[in-house]
Amino acid sequence: MIKPHGSDELNPLFVADADERSGLQAEAETLPSILLNSAAAANAVMLGGGYFNPLTGYMDLADSLSVAEKMSTVDGLFFPVPIVNLTAETGVKVGSRLALRDPNVEGNPVLAVMDVTAVEDVSDEQMAFMSQKIFRTEDAKHPGVATFNGLGQTLLSGPVQVLNFSYFKTDFPDTFRTAVEIRNEIMTHGWKSVVAFQTRNPMHRAHEELCRMAMEQLEADGVLIHMLLGQLKPGDIPADVRDASIRKMVEVYFPPNTVMVTGYGFDMLYAGPREAVLHAVFRQNCGCTHLIVGRDHAGVGDYYGGFDAQAIFEEEVPAGALELKIFSADHTAYSKKLDKVVMMRDVPDHTKDDFVLLSGTAVREMLGKGIAPPPEFSRPEVAKILSDYYQSLDN
Ligand code: ADX
Repeated sequence: MIKPHGSDELNPLFVADADERSGLQAEAETLPSILLNSAAAANAVMLGGGYFNPLTGYMDLADSLSVAEKMSTVDGLFFPVPIVNLTAETGVKVGSRLALRDPNVEGNPVLAVMDVTAVEDVSDEQMAFMSQKIFRTEDAKHPGVATFNGLGQTLLSGPVQVLNFSYFKTDFPDTFRTAVEIRNEIMTHGWKSVVAFQTRNPMHRAHEELCRMAMEQLEADGVLIHMLLGQLKPGDIPADVRDASIRKMVEVYFPPNTVMVTGYGFDMLYAGPREAVLHAVFRQNCGCTHLIVGRDHAGVGDYYGGFDAQAIFEEEVPAGALELKIFSADHTAYSKKLDKVVMMRDVPDHTKDDFVLLSGTAVREMLGKGIAPPPEFSRPEVAKILSDYYQSLDN
């Protein structure tokens, strides 16, 4: 099986031993604590699940700046995005053990315990530098930049021990998986090559076909549909609705035992190319051999070129940094001429009018009015679930 990123074995930071965990839980109640923001909580969940292997905790300022600048820690570990606990809390002491409380669960239970090895102030210039490098913009209208700028400018770093998976295991029991669990499931299936499909949206026919094309062209044994279950920007479709529509599509349109429908507990960064590389790192940690990267992967608005998230793998990811390979997909849509979903690069004779192309906004409007998008765009079973959701918003 493909090795995790940066180590031979996956080292999840979740404390798996129940006795040790309840001991830590008891200790945590005696420790000073802070309330995490959602971004730092999501990082803890990812660290806990082995997704951010081989990290042992939150990065310090030197590593954060180095990772932002050149996708490498000071010690030379390849990592595409700083994994930080940036906070507005003050008074945390270097050398202390700190209970990290979960902002997303009622009562703010302890999510993790941290050994604070550094407390550093991040200057406005350093925030702007990181923003520019991670998001390629400092524009406060970019949802990822807005979140990043609102976290606070005190950086707490050090190793963490993770006690639970926040709301993800309880709210999405059938879908949330740790990287450890995904590796184990892949092993149980006996799959050698596995292609991951990242998504934060419902899956329409283009997405469905991308999975099929990747599987066929790579001769993969299976597809891991891996949806983001954390926070999104307003207007994006909630995870439970996406989950239901994706499950329906897989049930009706894929042969049994070829697709795993799963999710991970992280908030969307909307960091386009850098987030695509982060996606690659954590899919390798999950045991996948390939990741589909299509048009405007992890993008938002027009902050990124349509295929910047593919170019970064050619231009900026050092050779050998990752074992997982990218399946680069061109813009994919239904061809009226050929009566099937195609990648545009495969049909050079087509013009724009030969495709069924609908913007996200147009589809949302149709669904909101109870009008199903054409079956060339959306499977009727998927359209029904989405339409029910949009109409429930109006009532
Ligand atoms: S993402 O933010 O999670 O990347 P989304 O769920 O919309 O957003 O996309 C999932 C994957 O499908 C990404 O790799 C994206 O590039 C790809 N993709 C989405 N729509 C298309 C399309 N029409 N043509 C090619 N690739 C696409």
